[in-house]
Amino acid sequence: MSEYIIKGGRKIEGEVKISGSKNASLPIIAASILNQGTTTLYNVPDIHDTQMMFEILKKLGGKVTKKKNKIIIDTSKISEYEIPEELMRQMRSSVIFVGALLGKHSKATFSYPGGCDIGARPIDLHLKTFEKLGINISKNYGNITCNCDKIIGEKIDLDFPSVGATENAILVACLAKGETIITNAAKEPEIIDLQNILNKMGANIKGAGTDTIQINGVTKLKDVSYNIMPDRIEAGTFLCVAAMTGGNITIKEVEANNITPLIHKLEETGCKIEIQKNEIKMQAPKRLKAVDIKTMPYPGFPTDMQSIFATTLTIAKGTSIITENLFENRYKYVQELIRMGAKIDIEGKTAIIKGIKKLYGANVTATDLRGGAALVMAGIAAKGETKINNIEYILRGYEKFEQKLNNIGANIKLVKNGINIF
Ligand code: EPZ
Repeated sequence: MSEYIIKGGRKIEGEVKISGSKNASLPIIAASILNQGTTTLYNVPDIHDTQMMFEILKKLGGKVTKKKNKIIIDTSKISEYEIPEELMRQMRSSVIFVGALLGKHSKATFSYPGGCDIGARPIDLHLKTFEKLGINISKNYGNITCNCDKIIGEKIDLDFPSVGATENAILVACLAKGETIITNAAKEPEIIDLQNILNKMGANIKGAGTDTIQINGVTKLKDVSYNIMPDRIEAGTFLCVAAMTGGNITIKEVEANNITPLIHKLEETGCKIEIQKNEIKMQAPKRLKAVDIKTMPYPGFPTDMQSIFATTLTIAKGTSIITENLFENRYKYVQELIRMGAKIDIEGKTAIIKGIKKLYGANVTATDLRGGAALVMAGIAAKGETKINNIEYILRGYEKFEQKLNNIGANIKLVKNGINIF
């Protein structure tokens, strides 16, 4: 197991370039199955989750070639349609491959992804979508087999604007016969990125980013090159690290209009923010003011920023109320913050945070990807030294995280199985 050793009391100052979006990359890597040819991707973050996606592609018979600044995927020889159970269990978002396999090959077998560190995360909306599109689904002992003769376009009304279910519906419908309309669709920017690459391949999709998406099935998709959008959650993470340490930061290669709720909340805490073309400059106050946040589907405040933003509020002036509306178990990081002196009470979906002057370094454990990133931020701001173990969670979603933070004032050592990496 690896751990971070963080010397606290640091101010974050400087500039950081944001990597490509994890949550845009995963569905786009799966979408490469649809053209049964070559997909060249730029700006894919080199993180555990994208590496896992490439592993699965190779197990299915795909070829993945990594060049300096691009990844070349060849899916012309895909010959397997079963997602390996051990990989499915390690990364539940690999369920996104199912839509692509069904869309192109009309068959897919996978194991029930099961819950994860932030909640049960069922896939009932995915399965309902598949059935609506004429796909036969059989379940036995945790394995699910889907197949069909021909996929016929349909009207699909999602009970909840699920990101993954919206993406899977798009992937299945691209090559279907006729028109598919998805209503109550998720509106996340990553879905617009997916629409953009698919249309570049020759698909006919309109409406991504709104709650109604129209897909007119086409017969074939062609080879494509595509540049992945920047990671809006990574951008938000770096803004919060600077905010919590009274610092100042310039975020480069970011689409500010993708994180407006976060920017408005940071301004409410007293941060001064200036937005230029694809840059955000922020100056934090000496001490943040308490604010309340409620997570909502896009364009509301993103659930992925809940733990990170809540952590900045542990040392704000006043009491903050956090309401997590998306996932039922996304407060596991709170126990670890309390070990660092934070004053937080959890009542169901709500966290009440009483701001204190400072946190103190402690030995803590990362409980999930974003909760782990929040602990890193807390360690940078805290007085004294913090040791975080289980940092594999963090390496899933942040590219060169400790190097980027050390370049702007942090002091983080990565220790892998007892060997100090730097
Ligand atoms: C995506 O997960 C993101 N992951 C998550 O980011 C993000 O937190 C989430 O969307 C919400 O924005 C990727 O894009 C790879 P959902 P997804 O389906 O698609 C319930 C991160 O940290 N639901 O929109 O799995 C579900 O339980 C990750 O980068 C059903 O009930 O999220 C949850 O309560 C974490 N049935 C809510 O919907 C279903 O069939 C939102 O889930 C599907 C979902």
